[in-house]
Amino acid sequence: MEIPGYEPFYLETLADLRAEITRLGLSIPVSDSTDSLFQPRQIAGRTLPNGFCAQPIASRHHQNLADGGFSLIWYAEPTTPLPPSRDRIQIAQLAPPCPEELDDDAVESQLDALVESAKSATLAGFDGVDISCHRGTLAQKLLAAHQRPGRFGGSLENRMRFLLEALRRIREANPDTILAVRLNAFHACAGGFGVDSEDFRKPDLTEPLALTRALEAAGVSILNPAINHPNLRGPERQNHPLSDSESPHDHPLVALQRLIRLSEDLAKATPGLSVIAGGFGWLRDFAPHVAAALLESGPFAMAGFGRGALAFPSGASFRKWPRELVCIDCGACNALEATKNSVGCVIRDGATYGPIYQGMRRTEEDVLREGLSRCHFCEAAPCVSADPLRTPIPEMIAAWLKGDPETARQILFSANPLPGLASRLSPAWMEAEGACIETSLGGVSVPILDLQASIAWEALQSGKAGLAISEKANGRSVAIIGSGPAGLGAAAFLLEKGYAVQLHEKSQVLGGMPSRVIPSRRAGPIDLEIQALLDPALKANRLSVFLENEILPGPGFENLRRSVDAVLVCAGVWREPTLGGRGNAILGALEFLESFKSGNRTSVPDRVAILAGGDCAMESARLSRESGASQVYVIFEGERSALHWHMPESWFATPGVHAMMEWEPLRYERDPGGELRGLHLRHSTLGTSALMEIDMVIEAMGLDPDPRWDFQTSQPESQGIYFAGGILNGGTSVASCLAEGRAAAAKIHADLFP
Ligand SMILES: Cc1cc2nc3c(=O)[nH]c(=O)nc-3n(C[C@H](O)[C@H](O)[C@H](O)COP(=O)(O)O)c2cc1C
Ligand code: SF4
Repeated sequence: MEIPGYEPFYLETLADLRAEITRLGLSIPVSDSTDSLFQPRQIAGRTLPNGFCAQPIASRHHQNLADGGFSLIWYAEPTTPLPPSRDRIQIAQLAPPCPEELDDDAVESQLDALVESAKSATLAGFDGVDISCHRGTLAQKLLAAHQRPGRFGGSLENRMRFLLEALRRIREANPDTILAVRLNAFHACAGGFGVDSEDFRKPDLTEPLALTRALEAAGVSILNPAINHPNLRGPERQNHPLSDSESPHDHPLVALQRLIRLSEDLAKATPGLSVIAGGFGWLRDFAPHVAAALLESGPFAMAGFGRGALAFPSGASFRKWPRELVCIDCGACNALEATKNSVGCVIRDGATYGPIYQGMRRTEEDVLREGLSRCHFCEAAPCVSADPLRTPIPEMIAAWLKGDPETARQILFSANPLPGLASRLSPAWMEAEGACIETSLGGVSVPILDLQASIAWEALQSGKAGLAISEKANGRSVAIIGSGPAGLGAAAFLLEKGYAVQLHEKSQVLGGMPSRVIPSRRAGPIDLEIQALLDPALKANRLSVFLENEILPGPGFENLRRSVDAVLVCAGVWREPTLGGRGNAILGALEFLESFKSGNRTSVPDRVAILAGGDCAMESARLSRESGASQVYVIFEGERSALHWHMPESWFATPGVHAMMEWEPLRYERDPGGELRGLHLRHSTLGTSALMEIDMVIEAMGLDPDPRWDFQTSQPESQGIYFAGGILNGGTSVASCLAEGRAAAAKIHADLFP
């Protein structure tokens, strides 16, 4: 797969690098030896063993950086620091984003909040805090607020007030905290801080110098400068929205020299500040040679490595960096950050971040276009027949490929009210993608679900994911019991036909099983999708939502039935078979998953058995493994081929995972106090019995509807009572439930308007 914006490196030796610097007319120093990086450095009144600073990047690798020898670790956020050590300084960056408009009172409250965050960071064990004036923070925006009225805009004194006041109050509250500032000293855009008033492409250090002197006087000890590059604009900026070190128009060495020169000027003017040199990512394995040269000859206190440290956290232990271990300046980590994924090096830690990156790239235009161009636009397309919602898939693909995403959106949403959710949770191989002829021809389907996910996401972002409700009400009303996919599919159909709809939900949230039980990493922003879908109906007063309102057969149900023209029961399947004696160590899979999703449970004991067979077994097994179980036993009485399992087979090869097929769970063994000790099992082919010691059991053998609805399922629809979704089908895919809810709603419509 292509990495957008990646350019291969072309310099082989330090001599090549020096020649290239000369060719470009630059004067970046390069040292053969990296020794100066490994000598002790004085910084903020402390002596650190080396000159390696890990620049702030919101990753989870601080322990690796410490183990790798980085002596100044700059956290991108105030998470829990590592234990204190004489040999390292840990700085927490405080970088609250800037809201759109803030009056002076609101700025004052932000100031209070910042000072509080600094106190918490110090209490948590950080040696110091950084008030970031970089990447769109409030402090940065105020520095450039020339036109702003009030106490925080206009004159430089006013514009610096927020930052200096925050520093003063933090120092007052805790005189020992190291104060640091990450400063964008050349924010190369019109009206940016540190730019020439006539031409923002040129730096003007007058104000940055005045500011850094004020910082020095305010007791700041560490300055970590950054800049933007003026040529990194337009479409390129979207590919590298967060980069501060490379530019597709400027040669990366030109950009590096610009940052070095500006940082040098600031450092020379403020000898009381320890200034960090940085921006070495593009240099690959040559990075420490330039960094060492700057520490030898320049006014810098330490050398900061951003992606260099992310890719190669052991870098501070290596005098020569092996090229095969270092950052290749591909920008994939930036892309992960920009899309709010967890950040790490996709190239050097591919096992962890590769799948996340692939997931992100799959819905990007170039990758989608490549995959969709394999569509054969089949007659009687098999993908359409296999899609429970019968989405006109070839037409949707054709419109999108033709550059008409609006028509593609309309085609998709007219068939599927929740395409984002359906694309994430549908079993692709069993539905449209499995039936795609490319799956048979080449083994890889046309990316139908990725296209759906992309269209759904765009629609959500642009406010076009709502129902198109009819202007006129049709005078009829329907109550829907249960707001899972079936209930929502029915509600969408009825609202578009002009009905007044009541949605009765027994829990606190709409969305049923996907909202309550399925982990967010799979279910995605389901709450936002449902809210966007229903919003037009709520605003038009066509929809009434009743949360925490369980309706069961009985007088309440009878009253409801009399108050509307029809009732549709989509109560789902929420009962799980049990071997008996549920408690703390024996849980149903639904309550287990729900307790994690709500945050009430975060860990599991060492040995967990999953009694498998139903849909929730896989989620429970994966969650147990991720949440502390060293041994997970998936126990199923049938053969492997009969087990309903959506994850790749390779998961069973994970150390500590045991697939125990053909073992029938019989009963629990307890100690005299009633605590769980083990599980009695019998092998269904061999007839052997065994007692297995276990700490926790999750019962995920299947799901049944609430038996109290049983007598109702046989009631004739002529009485205005209808059923749909899991209560009838026992629980199937999201797309099936949406389709069945829609079909039941269509039946109601046909009965009420024959
Ligand atoms: C994915 C990513 C996230 C970053 N996040 C932050 C941040 O939160 N705060 C910050 O001050 N700089 C941040 N940076 C900038 C880095 O600290 C560093 O200045 C930049 O990567 C340039 O240095 P390099 O060439 O050594 O990578 C981030 C950079 C990357 C690649
Ligand atoms: S740190 Fe890794 S993902 Fe980021 S630019 Fe470097 S090689 Fe690419």
